[in-house]
Formats: sequence, structure tokens, C-alpha cells
Amino acid sequence: MRVQLLAGQYVALLVPWFGADWKKLMIRKCLFPAAGYGTRFLPATKAMPKEMLPIVDKPLIQYAVEEAYSAGLQHMAMVTGRGKRALEDHFDTSYELEQQIRGTAKERALDSTRQLIDTCSFAYTRQVEMKGLGHAILSGRPLIGDEAFAVVLADDLCLNPDGDPVLAQMVALYKQYRCSIVAIQEVPREDTRKYGVIAGEQIHEGIYRVDTMVEKPSPEDAPSNLAIIGRYILTPDIFDLIADTPPGTGGEIQVTDALMRQAQAGCVLAYKFKGLRFDCGSVEGFVEATNFCFKQR
Ligand code: UTP
Repeated sequence: MRVQLLAGQYVALLVPWFGADWKKLMIRKCLFPAAGYGTRFLPATKAMPKEMLPIVDKPLIQYAVEEAYSAGLQHMAMVTGRGKRALEDHFDTSYELEQQIRGTAKERALDSTRQLIDTCSFAYTRQVEMKGLGHAILSGRPLIGDEAFAVVLADDLCLNPDGDPVLAQMVALYKQYRCSIVAIQEVPREDTRKYGVIAGEQIHEGIYRVDTMVEKPSPEDAPSNLAIIGRYILTPDIFDLIADTPPGTGGEIQVTDALMRQAQAGCVLAYKFKGLRFDCGSVEGFVEATNFCFKQR
């Protein structure tokens, strides 16, 4: 059988010969862009981050951090903005509260948060102007440095009750291919204008080598119905590409435009993940997720 390698895989094969730092080939850090205004949830999000909205009794950001942690990532990097301080407070000790509930049955309710605080590092930076997702990712550059990293949008809640979490599936794929990967799902044609949409050759079941990527196309212009959702693995060259990307659709700096250029250089995959995804940035998706999680308990 003839095995065709992608550009990233050649690099992976050659790197040991040059004695490269293996740390750079592992995914250790996860970036959480969380600076958006969350206008679809006003007035709830006037003074509270959208990412702190609870699905049942756990905020969206904790689901996101737990997903990263279960994919083997321990360094959490958050891009926040004005009015988002609650995100930092959530992953910190709350002395008074903890003292108050010590020794009661309620103490256990903080176990999951405490475990993350004890095992992960949390770093924060601010996006001073909300110039789009690409710009938010670029704002996180000082927290990531020169290594491949994951990106999780906490308002896309991904759950896979029957197997590995979505980010863990993507990290496993990265170990195989060593290139940027976007998570995709099929959406109804009429919804393509809500997403970045890809097209490409299917190289394995559910894995596409991207050759086209369009941000929020109308159904007539969409190259497919395969929409990018809020999970990415990005190689660090993406930062220079974003820095060199002019504002695109909606006047925002789009990560899809930078990814398109990476794809043209030969190495972006799209992965049809296994599991469920709830668009918790919309009221409908948020209610669906709440009902689903409540029933799961
Ligand atoms: P969205 O467009 O869904 O978030 O961005 P939003 O702007 O907060 O939501 P609405 O439309 O006003 O309700 C997707 C993700 O990218 C982040 C958001 O926080 C969200 O997680 N984002 C977006 C930033 O961090 N910075 C930006 O400039 C834009």
C-alpha cells in the first residue's frame, strides 16, 4: 500500500535528525479566546462573561478547561477583556466561601474546580479591542510562545458521552499528522453564514485535507456544508499569518483567512469529530445543552 504523507508529517519524521526540542511537538497549552461581548445574551452578559453562564451548575468555561485537561493539556491560557474578571476568580481560591462550607456536604461541590486549580496553570491576557477571533488568538501569542497549541471556544460546548472528548480526539490526530486541524460538523445549508466553511479532499474517513475555507458564506457561495466549530489545533506559524491578515468578513480579523493561507502551503486538516456540539452562544443551543446535561445526571 502506498502511504502518502502530508508536509507536516515529513517535518515530524525529519525533526529527530536535527535534535529539535520534543516539547515543541507536544500540545501542552490551550488558548481560550473569551473576550467577545456575548451580545446575544444581553442583558445577562452586561456585567458577566458569557463563559460564566452555567449549564446546570457548572460554568461553560469549566466544561472547556475540563475538556482540555482530559486531552492531556495542563497550561490554560485565557484571552479576556473588560468585565471578565469572574473568569480569573473562578479558577482561584475563595477563602471566605471555602471556610464557610468546610465540613458540610456542600464542600464536595467545589471538588472539580479545586482539582483543576491544583493541577493546571492559568495565565491571562487581555484583548483590548474586540477585532475578531483571529485577533483574539494573536493577543494570546505571549502566553503560547513558539509551540503548537489548542484553541477552545467555551461557548461551543462539546460532549462525547460514549468516548474520548473532542479535543482528545484532535490531539491524537495531531500526533499523527503534525499540522493545524479544525473541527468540523455538517450543518444545514441555510446555516452556512454562521460559520467558516471548508472544502477539501477526504484522505481518511472523516478527515479532510483543506483546500478552500470561506468565512460566513451565503448558502449559494458555500463550498460545502462542512462548518468549522470552536475547536482547533494550531501550529505556531499561524501567529505570523494572522498578523499579516487584513480585516475580512464583518471587518474582523478572521482566523479562517490565516488558516486558508496555511492550507495553501499544504497543511491544514479538517476533522469530523465524534460527539455532540451545542452552540451555547445562542439561546436555543444553550437551552438544548442545559436540557441534555440535566437529563444526563
Ligand atoms: P462570537 O462572535 O460567537 O462571540 O465569537 P461574541 O461576539 O461574544 O457573541 P455575540 O455574537 O456578541 O453574542 C466566538 C468566540 O470568539 C471570542 C468570543 O469570546 C467567543 O468565545 N472572541 C470573538 C474574542 O475573544 N474576541 C473577539 O474579538 C471576538
